[in-house]
Amino acid sequence: MKKLLLALSMACGTLAASADYALLPEPAVMTETQGEYSLPNKLIVAGKDAKIFARDLKRRGVEASTASKGASVNLAVDASLPAEGYSISVTPAGVSVKASGAAGFYYAAQTLAQMVSQNPGALPAVEISDSPRFGYRGMMIDVVRYFVPFEELKKLVDEAAALKINNVHLHLTDDNGWRLEIKKYPKLTEVGAWRVDRPEMFPARLNARSPEEKATYGGFYTQKQMRELVKYAAERHVNLIPEIELPAHAAAAIASYPELTCPVDSGKFIGVFPGIGGKDANIIMCGGNDKVIEFYNNVFDEVIDIFPSKHIHLGGDEAAKDRWKVCALCQERIKKLGLKDEEELQAWLMNTISDHIMQKGRVPMGWDEATYGKPNKEMVIYGWQGFGQTAVNDARESGRKFIMTPARKFYLIRYQGPQWFEPFTYFGNVTLSDIYNYEPVEADWTPALEEQLMGLQGSLWCEFCGSDEDVEYQLFPRMLAVAERAWAPKGRADLSKFVKSVDRYVPGLEERGMTVAQSMYNIQHKVVSNGDGTLTVELDCERPDVDIRWTTGSDLNASARNLGHNVVIPNLSGTFTITAATFDRHSGKQLGKTLVLPISSNLATGRPVTVRNAMHEPGVLTNGLRGSERFSDFEYVGWNGDNAEMTLDLGEVKPVRRVVVGTVANTDLCAAAPLELVIYGSENGRSYKVMKQLEVDKETIFRGGAVKTDYTAEFPTTDLRYIRVLAVNPGAIPDGYPREGVPGQMYFDELIVE
Ligand code: ACM
Ligand code: ZN
Repeated sequence: MKKLLLALSMACGTLAASADYALLPEPAVMTETQGEYSLPNKLIVAGKDAKIFARDLKRRGVEASTASKGASVNLAVDASLPAEGYSISVTPAGVSVKASGAAGFYYAAQTLAQMVSQNPGALPAVEISDSPRFGYRGMMIDVVRYFVPFEELKKLVDEAAALKINNVHLHLTDDNGWRLEIKKYPKLTEVGAWRVDRPEMFPARLNARSPEEKATYGGFYTQKQMRELVKYAAERHVNLIPEIELPAHAAAAIASYPELTCPVDSGKFIGVFPGIGGKDANIIMCGGNDKVIEFYNNVFDEVIDIFPSKHIHLGGDEAAKDRWKVCALCQERIKKLGLKDEEELQAWLMNTISDHIMQKGRVPMGWDEATYGKPNKEMVIYGWQGFGQTAVNDARESGRKFIMTPARKFYLIRYQGPQWFEPFTYFGNVTLSDIYNYEPVEADWTPALEEQLMGLQGSLWCEFCGSDEDVEYQLFPRMLAVAERAWAPKGRADLSKFVKSVDRYVPGLEERGMTVAQSMYNIQHKVVSNGDGTLTVELDCERPDVDIRWTTGSDLNASARNLGHNVVIPNLSGTFTITAATFDRHSGKQLGKTLVLPISSNLATGRPVTVRNAMHEPGVLTNGLRGSERFSDFEYVGWNGDNAEMTLDLGEVKPVRRVVVGTVANTDLCAAAPLELVIYGSENGRSYKVMKQLEVDKETIFRGGAVKTDYTAEFPTTDLRYIRVLAVNPGAIPDGYPREGVPGQMYFDELIVE
């Protein structure tokens, strides 16, 4: 039937535009019908709250006004539709919109505005029946690590609303700043909103040494501004969830009111952290001091007065307990209340403050560590660690409600594309398709558990953002996938269709001045040793609809076409450079950035390596290709706390005079240089002799920032078939570094043998 319609439409042309909707989020049900509605220059809206509907259309760039006669858009209340749901019917006679309430009409206006922008002359006839899968569709912005200017915050709320995101979670306080005016505690913004301005990347920024060091970076929102934002968001059916962190991630508050921390830290200077805090990283609010409870109750009184949100976020994550373990006040409280341990003390503290919040009719929220010590039954938990399993397990046992924002899937701080092309950030990848392909509900979930899941949230931590553009770049286009996943019915999975909708959506974002990443067009490469002296190169792009062209020459346009989005090139050998990029299948225009892989052959290239205790597969160690400054770029093999052992087989006995071991260190991210390298050689693979022992300059083992180093062992030419490299782990990161005490990691990208 569909084929027949298509054939008909091509024959007579009347239905030619019928497929021309690519809406985001895609409506739950959308049925094309016959004909089209010729759009007037201005849409005339009539019916319930027509003025608001016309205003919302205008805010999305559609000319609209109201009149009682000659309406092109008729609004009607249909109480049978779900909350936030709506229907749109387009016929040659006009547009009819139904919803049960204001949110539904608002979302209908968002959808209709997209329909008009995609079809400015005439709307193809269609029946849309839409409502969200999840009641909670969230976007978190960390306004602490980067102080997002107020006007920019408004723009981001507006963009969230256009995507039918209905909760913007504001991470307002942390170690690195306090961003909300609190009248009762003026020092929170006089002192706590400001930190010393260091040029280094976030994790490398050292603490202020004394109060004399001027704290010049920061800022805060006034209560007046936040009330304005609340109203602005409410008009767009966005709820603002304020998060005030306790008991940890609170160094800015402690810098303002040092008496709130455990007495073990009293008397010493604590400034607002410019980075991760070094020695002071574990500073925390005292769990045994009633002043802390009084402080938070007073702060939340003002927060609740500003934010009408039903939900109020208390933080609760990453609270190290070393201070509490040695604090007399904390230990006294644990004893007096008969608590099991410091986790129960945290739960008691959070529950006590939650009680205060609940007395005011609000519901507390916390990160998933808040479940460790049995929080209030009412607390809503955000599953963030790893894949969010802590929250899922807790919800199964406790019946608590929860929201999924798993770091591995929905943390927008992560790399959104092949890392060689991305600005430096933390951790691994979360690509557009990773988000799109995410399904929170697993096969073993009970219907009750599924019911407890309130929704999904994309969370942007801003440690690596230095401008509004950086924030937008991390949010877009990935928030489009978050919105789609949170709105679309369960089971919908059509990446090809989704990316085409993204294509239709992005120009509007750009016209509104948003910075949008193009990462989805870049190529992820993988070059691995086949073990027989040859290499296999894989070039992949997450866009299913692009062509990859590659060449070992210099002219990409002269190389083969229509290679698809995934290319495998086996049996390569020698020294050569692969140049590749993605291209539009139809126009032939280059889409992504040009990838250049300079592959330099040596005796080890393409040969097999075995490793012990490594975190990654060893095939990249002899691929002739060097890694970048990011050890997470898939070009490195890493070891966590262990010695590294790599054994290479050259295939036959060969004269060898030099072994080069390629590394990267970045102590700010736990990666260090080896303490020592020992190069062994063998003809038979059974008896090895030491060819060279390389002492590493102690001064260079732990260094901030990314440092790539090649360690070279030279020795008299010797006949060898097997080479073994032992790299001795340097041990825990020493005092004075941001990650002190954490086991040292080591990363190797290449073994070069000559
Ligand atoms: C978190 O990422 N610490 C919630
Ligand atoms: Zn204490």
